[in-house]
Amino acid sequence: MRGMAGYEESMKLDYERVFTVQPARPVTYFGIGAIKKIDDIAKALKEKQLDKVVIVTDAIVWKETKVEKYIKPAFENNNIKYAMYDKVRPNPTYASCDEVANMAKEFGAKAFLSVGGGSHNDTTKTAAALLKHPGKTAQDMYEKIVWVYDAIPIVSINTTHGTGSEVDQFAVAQSDGGYKPLIAGPALYPMYAIEDPALTLTLPKKQTISTSLDAFHHSFEAATTRVRNPYSTLLSATAIRLISKWVPVAAVEPDNITARYWLMYASVLAGISFDIALLHLTHALEHPISALNPKATHGIGLTAIFPAILNVTYKVFPELSAELLAPIIPELEGVPGEAEYAEKKIEQWFADIGCPEKLKDLGFTESDVSKLVENAMTSPMSKPLFDVSPVEVSEGLVKTIFERSLAKR
Ligand SMILES: [Fe+2]
Repeated sequence: MRGMAGYEESMKLDYERVFTVQPARPVTYFGIGAIKKIDDIAKALKEKQLDKVVIVTDAIVWKETKVEKYIKPAFENNNIKYAMYDKVRPNPTYASCDEVANMAKEFGAKAFLSVGGGSHNDTTKTAAALLKHPGKTAQDMYEKIVWVYDAIPIVSINTTHGTGSEVDQFAVAQSDGGYKPLIAGPALYPMYAIEDPALTLTLPKKQTISTSLDAFHHSFEAATTRVRNPYSTLLSATAIRLISKWVPVAAVEPDNITARYWLMYASVLAGISFDIALLHLTHALEHPISALNPKATHGIGLTAIFPAILNVTYKVFPELSAELLAPIIPELEGVPGEAEYAEKKIEQWFADIGCPEKLKDLGFTESDVSKLVENAMTSPMSKPLFDVSPVEVSEGLVKTIFERSLAKR
């Protein structure tokens, strides 16, 4: 039995901080068979005279999910012309976003349809913003404009259960200088999103685990930022409970549609949670990892550093952390002295569900720490995330986290 002062007290809220209680902006269709809603969406696009659409995807997702059989007739029946860009790469670069924007300009696109996960949404959002900012490049968007007030409409068909990007107002891309900066703003919310768990059945095992863990980290971080609120924390707690229950099932039974249903639902809740309460240390410190090693998967990079971060943040939020982690580590009592125990247990759980990778496995050694720290401290993405971190962020703290994530424990 945890020595909880009570769930409400555990959040340590500032009751005078006013927040907006609102769901994410897109009209989000959720459920098995939600892909058929593309008919209604195509009709609505036609009514809004958005009749030229660029589909942004990659060849594997397009083939594996077989969404063409729904999208093609929906667009053709509503006289919507479309062009395909099927070369989205993981961790999109400025250049790849510019390429999509230029192609869409030439085509005369009035809207975009993203089919895929986070990288597809990031590419699409950046290109959609560029179409409303003539003469600008992705570099201008990320390094000068940042807050985006205008973009052409986006429809997003989600095919993973991690990103949350289809329900949020953010996008990231990789800069030429090895950073992963952020653009944000209400114009980046998709107009419609489709969340059909059946589209995730072909996700390979490693991606099943890494995308689910991305959603886990969105949840835990959003619940513990300085701008947390009871709504985001509730969404996060539910998402963590669902992920802890269903990710071990989906990892061994990829065809289990019930597991896919709940994992996708958890990723939507997590996406809404961080859309309104933001993220902090884990995402800020993962971006240098995937920026310096673009082959590092986002969800795995987050998981490699989370235990060392939990060791720090647990001491600030012992009761809330114990509450959030109860489905995974039920014996936690919610006292600061358990931080190291929580760190070890969560690391063990990550390994048990199939994500044992440490920072070393992602190609980093002790000699890379200074590079990682420098990138984290100077990345434009870090400042907004450090600003809402539950602990004061210093170069020393960041160094300790990377060092602890490299050390054998
Ligand atoms: Fe993420």
